[in-house]
Amino acid sequence: MQTPINEAIQTHYTRADLGDVILAALENAGKDLTRLTPEDLAPIDQFHIRGRMATLELARAAGLHAAMHVLDVGSGVGGTSRCLAKEFGCRVTGIDLTDEYCQAAAMLTARTGLAHLVDFRQGDATRLPFDDQAFDAVWTEHVAMNIPDKARLYREMHRVLKPGGTLAIYDVLAGPSGPVLFPVPWARTPDTSFLATPEALRRLLEDTGFTVADWSDTTEAARAWFLALAEKIRREGFPPLGFHLLLGPDFKAMAQNQGRNLEEGRIVLAQIVARK
Ligand SMILES: C[S@@+](CC[C@H](N)C(=O)[O-])C[C@H]1O[C@@H](n2cnc3c(N)ncnc32)[C@H](O)[C@@H]1O
Repeated sequence: MQTPINEAIQTHYTRADLGDVILAALENAGKDLTRLTPEDLAPIDQFHIRGRMATLELARAAGLHAAMHVLDVGSGVGGTSRCLAKEFGCRVTGIDLTDEYCQAAAMLTARTGLAHLVDFRQGDATRLPFDDQAFDAVWTEHVAMNIPDKARLYREMHRVLKPGGTLAIYDVLAGPSGPVLFPVPWARTPDTSFLATPEALRRLLEDTGFTVADWSDTTEAARAWFLALAEKIRREGFPPLGFHLLLGPDFKAMAQNQGRNLEEGRIVLAQIVARK
């Protein structure tokens, strides 16, 4: 079902002909389009703070392995799904609201030779089109901040997980010191931004039936990474490959704000592993 919030979120993320835009940028950056690797794509397709590094850390903490079928909720252009398939041998299904992202994700997956392990579907994380207990692990990075009905989101994740299954989360949460400065990469205005505090998220996960096994506050590492990125963009302009390809020239203001949001404690980061 299309709600006004979901429409606004798709408008925020959609960039026409995104697949072609990404391929042209990769070619300009000197990449061989006939032999693309997940590492080539990482500066654009791991669309969260600390990119591929953060994904590898969470996957190790969650104990992902080759016998697992993972659901990547809010899979974006698919970088994380491909990384989990390539590095850990997992079978991965990605689901994302933004159709343009799902199309780019499928194209990039075929080009990196991972289509036998990774597939994508367009859909809403609060209405997962999957059977009960279908997955060994449910994974999500930097998505819940766009979702107001978090009780329903985690209920759906719980429903599609097998008993004993793993929930892996890497998310932006509300910090202790006041409102977020907009625009940020996930929202141009407060209308599509819904950050939970760490306390509220922990309570929500436990109320849903999850046991939190591991919770790391990774705000400090995020702060250092984002400040370095914002400073590099300020000094040198956009690199050939970066999040500006997804978000357009506004990304400069978003990066500056994100640096300040982290620096001033307006947002915090959490890496969480929980079990059903
Ligand atoms: C910042 S991107 C992160 C993408 C990906 N997880 C990554 O880390 O590369 C946020 C993604 O969440 C998706 N999203 C937002 N609300 C959603 C919803 N209700 N259901 C599914 N996807 C959603 C957006 O379309 C977007 O692709």
